[in-house]
Amino acid sequence: MEETCLLRLLFVTSLLSGCTHQASLNISPNRTQMFEGQFVSLRCEEDDSSDGWTVTRNTTRGTRRQCGADWGRKDGSSCNISFMRTVDSGVYWCESTGGAASSSITITVTGGAVILQSPVHPVMEGDDVTLTCTTQTSILSAGFYKDDSFIRTEPTGHMTIHHVSRSDEGFYKCNTISDGESPPSWITVTGKPTTAPPPSSAPPPASTPLFLVLLHLVVFCPYCISTVIMVSLYRRRSTGNYLPVSMEMAPPTQAEQGLADEFDDVMAAVTTEHHL
Ligand SMILES: *[C@@H]1O[C@H](CO)[C@@H](O)[C@H](O)[C@H]1NC(C)=O
Ligand SMILES: *[C@@H]1O[C@H](CO)[C@@H](O)[C@H](O)[C@H]1NC(C)=O
Repeated sequence: MEETCLLRLLFVTSLLSGCTHQASLNISPNRTQMFEGQFVSLRCEEDDSSDGWTVTRNTTRGTRRQCGADWGRKDGSSCNISFMRTVDSGVYWCESTGGAASSSITITVTGGAVILQSPVHPVMEGDDVTLTCTTQTSILSAGFYKDDSFIRTEPTGHMTIHHVSRSDEGFYKCNTISDGESPPSWITVTGKPTTAPPPSSAPPPASTPLFLVLLHLVVFCPYCISTVIMVSLYRRRSTGNYLPVSMEMAPPTQAEQGLADEFDDVMAAVTTEHHL
């Protein structure tokens, strides 16, 4: 009986987590800042292709527009923009036909000559992060800034932040003497996961929201608990009937017999309910 309950719980949980497929937005070139006029390819990487995912964006021109509506060239879950303009700057994400959304990427298109290359997705606490200051053709000696405060000059054009922590979150940009400065880009630092991440670059497994788990417990546990209590009561009762020698020999009284029958009926009802 307890096993049935557990199996049922597991089954429902897996059903529900199966409904929450995940996708992540991949971008090529793999950075958040783009030059005006350049080609960009976006793709929703999904863990299950049964759900249709579409690249979607919010820009100042319009909110929540799917690729192919009035921007981009759509082919399934991929979307290409052949000529980026500054008005294409905005938040991009993947949306499923069921309304689920992936995490988003903020893309900034500059009309200037300099961009900052920074991580597209949030970085993990403790990781090293390298920022690069570049034009379309070369990497430049540059000054790096966080939240408009000067950090340092890097003659190589690369600045590495070792063992990032939450306090490293902020807007970063770079400034060159010859070609001007880049737009700012936000860097997000997330806490280390308690369990080891999967070895591949696959998107994280779908997780069941905590409230759903709690809901299962609240809905199914009364069944489990009542079943366990009834079974143990029943066992104790049947063994109890035979323990005292005098009782063992005595035939059950009518009242006792009636109670036991009633109890059997209840058990049958509970069992039926469980196997529905
Ligand atoms: C897009 O814009 C809509 C409307 O302003 C807003 O509700 C939604 O949260 C935005 N989505 C993202 C990912 O920024
Ligand atoms: C977008 O570009 C990629 C890479 O160039 C290409 O493989 C893909 O077929 C293109 N998709 C569309 C919808 O044009």
